[in-house]
This record gives sequence, C-alpha cells and structure tokens, in this order.
Amino acid sequence: MWTPFGGAVLGIETSCDETSAAVLVGHELKGHVILSQDEHKVFAGVVPELAARAHLRVLDRVVRAALDEAELRPHDVDLYGVTAGPGLIGALLVGVAWAKAAAWAAGRPLVGVHHMEAHLFAASLEDPEAVPPFVALLVSGGHTMLLWVPEWGRYELLGETRDDAAGEAFDKVGRLLGLDYPGGPEIERAARSTEGDPHRFPRPMLHRTQGPDDPDYYAFSFSGLKTAVRNRVEQLEAEGRLGAERAAVARSFQLAVVEVLVEKTLRAVAAKDCPRVLIGGGVAASRALRAALARRLRPDGRLFHPSPRMATDNGAMIACTAAFRYSRGETASLDLTARADMPFPGLLRNGTRS
Ligand code: KG4
Ligand code: ZN
Repeated sequence: MWTPFGGAVLGIETSCDETSAAVLVGHELKGHVILSQDEHKVFAGVVPELAARAHLRVLDRVVRAALDEAELRPHDVDLYGVTAGPGLIGALLVGVAWAKAAAWAAGRPLVGVHHMEAHLFAASLEDPEAVPPFVALLVSGGHTMLLWVPEWGRYELLGETRDDAAGEAFDKVGRLLGLDYPGGPEIERAARSTEGDPHRFPRPMLHRTQGPDDPDYYAFSFSGLKTAVRNRVEQLEAEGRLGAERAAVARSFQLAVVEVLVEKTLRAVAAKDCPRVLIGGGVAASRALRAALARRLRPDGRLFHPSPRMATDNGAMIACTAAFRYSRGETASLDLTARADMPFPGLLRNGTRS
C-alpha cells in the first residue's frame, strides 16, 4: 500500500490548454490553481503554439497563486512534479523547463509524471477509497483507454481507441454543430434539453456477438461515428432543419458514445470479476457517462469518479502521482525531457511491457 509523501509537493501541468499548479501535503490539497486558456475558443480547437506561449506567460503567476493559497513560500516545497508527457510538445517543454530550473535552484528532487497515469490518481484526491483494484476507463481529449489496475503502478491495457479519442470526438462533433470549444460540456448541455434517441447513430466496435477473443472486444473507434454525424448534419442543413434538430443530434451522439464506453467497461468488470470501476480524464466530467455506468454496475459495485474540476487537466493529480513515483524511489535528473509520446509507466499490452 502506498502512503503519501509527508512533505509539500508542487505539481505542474502544462500538457495542453490548462496551466495548473497545486500544492499537496500528504493527502491534503493546500493550494490549487487552474487557468484555462481562452485564446483557442475562436479557433474551435487548441492551437499548439498559442498554448505554449500562454503557459510561458502565466506559469510563474499560477505557481505563485497556488503557493499563496497554501500559505507556503517557494523554499517550503520539498518535491517537484511536472507532466513530462504525453501532450503537446511545446506546451510540455514550458512546464518541464520551469520545473527543472525551480528544482535545481531549490536543491529539491524532481519527478517527471505521465499525464494519463495522473488521471488515474485524480479521484483518490477526493475519495480515499478510490484505490486499486479497479477497472479504469480513461477518457480524455487525447486518449481512450480501458485498463485493469490490480495495484498502483501495475496497469494492464485491455483496449484503446483505434482512431479518435472520446473527448476528441465530442470536440469535433461540437464544432460540426456550431457549438463552443470544448465540445463535451456543450453537447451535454444541449442533450439535456431533449429526450429519447432521435437519430440513433451506430455504436462503433460494439456487437453483441463479440467474444473475448475478438480483437475488437475492448477496442474503441469514434471516427466513423463522427462521419455519421457529419452526414446527418449536412442533410439537416440542406433541409433547413439543423437549428431545430441540433439538440437531438447532440443527444443521440452522446448516447452512442456513452453506450460504447459503458458496455466495454462492463465487459472488463465481468472478465476481471471486479465490480470496482474508476473513470478519469475530461470526459469523466460527463454526468451522462457517470449516470449510465452507475445504473449498470452490480449492487455490490462501486463507481469512483473525480469532480468535474479534478476530471479535466489539473496540477493536483500531477502532484499526487509525483508523490507516488517518488515513494518508489524514482526521481528525474536534470536531463529530463518532455515527450509527446511518453510511454505509460508499468503498462502491459497483451501481457508484455510496452
Ligand atoms: O483530460 P482533459 O482535460 O484533457 C486532455 O488530457 O485531453 O480532457 C478534455 C476533454 C475535451 O475533449 C472535452 O470536450 C472533454 O474532455 N469533456 C467532456 C465533458 N467535459 C469535458 N466530454 C463529455 N462530456 C463532458 N461533460
Ligand atoms: Zn488530460
């Protein structure tokens, strides 16, 4: 069992379009600041260079604000944790360079954190029972992964997406529907204003006849679904009915994604005979996903989910993961670099280490 690091951990997150810093002391989150970049809204998606420049401009102030909230000063930080990947390379480099300089100047240890491993730790910051063993569904803007987690640090990859990530699909469909970026919360809001499954889109990679030996049994794919939505939107536009049908399309799209995510997660629950499920990543903020999963779990089942603030990118989960990795004796040296495709630590694919 992992006991948290007793000192003050500063966690830094700059992998995408949130600049965030957190101060964690033991299990207690003393300071936490998340600044979501606004500059991408007009482009309906994240512009990597703008993201990197915005991190560079505000990171120092975000860290100071988190330390102020914790009523600590820079020299009180005992351990530095920073997202080293995966993510947008320019954005990651800003956080990594900042953290290396700060750790070096203070003479304190530094840990390079894997962003997706951190999403696994997010729920445990709010619920001490959100610990392994569990089946984990990680759904973010860049990744969709179904994992079996028997203990922290040991991750068996059951399935992942073959193309778009779940959050990416929400964002792209949001754009097709003329909604603001990010699409996930906007689609959820629109979907709530209507009922049923009016457009009945396909459920990609989900067939009742699939068995565990089928290579697609746990796999996801959202690109074809996005195309189906695009075709429907074009048809509705041509008929002058898009305005009237926008919410209905959003609802049917959300239902299709949620059903696939829930069914595949339940397959893992059955295969591992473990009714404990944890969700993480930005899409875990979806109330529709949480409600659908909760409805389908066995009566003895547990669903662990972070609050919306802790589900999307944040520094607290980075600090927590840094503390875990440090407790294992892992530290980074000053040649730590950022990697857009950083391998997931401790991940087994088909029984072999990636
Ligand atoms: O984890 P995250 O903050 O960033 C990445 O690591 O990618 O996830 C962001 C993603 C976006 O694609 C956003 O549309 C999605 O999370 N998201 C949602 C909801 N809130 C955020 N998707 C569906 N429903 C939501 N309520
Ligand atoms: Zn993320």
